[in-house]
Amino acid sequence: MGVLENEKKTNELLNYYGLSKEQQREFWNIIRHIFNHEEFQRRMSKEFPHHGEITLGEHILSDAAMTYKLTESSRFKRADFDRKTAVIIAMFHDLYTLNWQNNPDNFVDNSYNNHAFRHPIEAIINAVNFYPEYFEDDNTYKIIDGVIHHMFPVPVKRFDGSPMELKNEEAFNKIPDRIKNLIIFSSNRGFNYNHFSICRSTFLEGRIMSKADKIVSIRNYMDDIGQNGPLSILTLFTGVNKNLENYEETEKLKKRR
Ligand SMILES: [Fe+2]
Ligand SMILES: [Fe+2]
Repeated sequence: MGVLENEKKTNELLNYYGLSKEQQREFWNIIRHIFNHEEFQRRMSKEFPHHGEITLGEHILSDAAMTYKLTESSRFKRADFDRKTAVIIAMFHDLYTLNWQNNPDNFVDNSYNNHAFRHPIEAIINAVNFYPEYFEDDNTYKIIDGVIHHMFPVPVKRFDGSPMELKNEEAFNKIPDRIKNLIIFSSNRGFNYNHFSICRSTFLEGRIMSKADKIVSIRNYMDDIGQNGPLSILTLFTGVNKNLENYEETEKLKKRR
């Protein structure tokens, strides 16, 4: 599918989430540059399924649209925050490296590194690598901290000296120390439990985005549960999805390990 078709799909999403034409223009101004990148386009393809028929890219755009909508709500309207940064956090929040469902390459040895706990770290590393121009000013830490803690109250894996089993370890080694240190620092913030950190983003931008992710995901899970039964929610933690290709091979491989 080409960029134009993906653009059409995105406009359908923006209509679905009720953004006016004026708002859609502002939204595109914020996301255009991120959207056009080949790595983002890849995440809009069948290579990265998310829930049901939705690709990962569509999920990310849904979160970004919902984030935009929330910044318009009266609760946040009076607060002091930067809408653009909140939407950028949404565009980066799930840019993890590999499709996580029914994919043996995405397996890890330690369950504390499972996709659910590890993917925000991979996402921020990829964001820094694909879009270094977003990590040069005062917003850098806001974006990093927002992406790392977007899953709250789900814990995030922290850099505590244990194996990280990142699927983009090489990319991590390449990023500037200044940014690496911010990622490590943010991953260790808040309540530390075993290999995890459990805390909300420090900044309102990250918190709004995290809320948007919950609203969008709950809708997706409800659809999933409606279509595939209550156990479909386990996919989030096991990475094995009965309703996608390669299910049987993946189950077998998983058992053999
Ligand atoms: Fe996520
Ligand atoms: Fe998400």
